[in-house]
Amino acid sequence: MSSEPSKPVRIGLLGRGTVGTAFAELVAERADAVEAATGRRPELSGVLTRSEGDAGEILERSDLIVELMGGTDPARELVIDALRAGRPVVTANKQLLAQHGDELFAVAREAGVQLRFEAAVAAVIPIVRTIQESFGVTEISKVFGIVNGTTNFILSEMAATGAGYGEVLARAQELGYAEADPSDDVSGADAAAKMAILARLAFHTQVTLAEVSYQGIEEIQPDDLAYAKELNLSLKLLGVAERRDGGISVRVFPCFLYPGHPLAPIEGPFNAVMVEAPAITEVTMSGPGAGGLQTASAVLGDVVSIIAGDAPVHETRVELPLVADVTSSFYLYLEVADRPGVLATVATVLGDHEISVKSVVQRGAGEDARLVMVVHECLESRFAAAVEALGELDDLRSAPRSIRVIEKEF
Ligand SMILES: NC(=O)c1ccc[n+]([C@@H]2O[C@H](COP(=O)([O-])OP(=O)(O)OC[C@H]3O[C@@H](n4cnc5c(N)ncnc54)[C@H](OP(=O)(O)O)[C@@H]3O)[C@@H](O)[C@H]2O)c1
Repeated sequence: MSSEPSKPVRIGLLGRGTVGTAFAELVAERADAVEAATGRRPELSGVLTRSEGDAGEILERSDLIVELMGGTDPARELVIDALRAGRPVVTANKQLLAQHGDELFAVAREAGVQLRFEAAVAAVIPIVRTIQESFGVTEISKVFGIVNGTTNFILSEMAATGAGYGEVLARAQELGYAEADPSDDVSGADAAAKMAILARLAFHTQVTLAEVSYQGIEEIQPDDLAYAKELNLSLKLLGVAERRDGGISVRVFPCFLYPGHPLAPIEGPFNAVMVEAPAITEVTMSGPGAGGLQTASAVLGDVVSIIAGDAPVHETRVELPLVADVTSSFYLYLEVADRPGVLATVATVLGDHEISVKSVVQRGAGEDARLVMVVHECLESRFAAAVEALGELDDLRSAPRSIRVIEKEF
């Protein structure tokens, strides 16, 4: 963008829903502050919704485009048109970036304009900026955290009240923490899209949504959370992107944490992201991961960076293979027959698969006998084989249940 201090910066706004409305208000409210900080005053030059505005005309009379429509169609085409026309773009659209990031970044590079997207991951937490700028040349080993507020609210409520998943989900919907169709959030798909974006940034490599394996929270039982309390563990839906065995692993899964872990106290609809690297040890940032005003605030931050003329961030590219089989520690829940020797049989099966037990809780009797244990880190494929072998035992009254655990105690 040319620097003409006296001229306002004209912002074309695509989408005026929850975030777009808050953004339009914030631009009006903070215009003086933006002008004081950058020398230029922002103003809206047009708005596109399903019932108002013309995309071509808005582009024509804008210096910068803010995309807050969501979805990939027509957002992808409109963003590409804007970039090709030399207009920087700010978006909060994680699906668009997770599915079409490569194409969009390539177009932005060719056009020499910025594509900023702080609000697409963990809304107001400045994780994108931190990875791109503060840690831009740091060899990041791992970026992980709680990147979905809906599921964190549900898990926190289940742990606090002992209520079942369905009951708590209905409460989350009443309170506006879950959408009428919550499937993207509770299945882990929303977190997977955010982890694809974070992995790309952290490791400077191409990661598409299809390469992120994810598991949600729909199968979590109140029992799991009750035993977790006894074992002093808290349950979170984690997104994890890490370097492993010369490649990377990007996954989303429910996971138990020991007390003292920086993510353990994050309750309710909050997000928190940790970055680990030898040069920085670890950094944790937490805050609201959604909300109209909070997301709009992150969008405005990107707009200010563009107006201030911060240099575009160009990606460097390396090829890193996805590592399929990694090591994890696990919580294992078994409903067992109340017979002598059952614990020994279970221990033998685990031993045969070279899995060692860290802690065991034995509860109930007769029809209610249960074994709950945490096993030390082992290859996930080996653990899956052990679970399959346990499932074939006559001593089990139902299928084994398992959840990953971060074993590191703080
Ligand atoms: N809500 C949050 O807390 C949050 C947090 C982080 C990121 N985000 C992201 O921010 C973006 C916007 O979210 P939101 O919650 O504000 O969405 P929203 O309330 O559903 O608003 C979407 C807006 O885009 C417009 N739109 C959608 N499809 C369109 C089309 N084909 N043509 C023209 N206009 C269209 C809608 O127009 P109509 O008004 O005519 O329907 C509406 O104004 C999404 O990418 C979302 O993932 C949201």
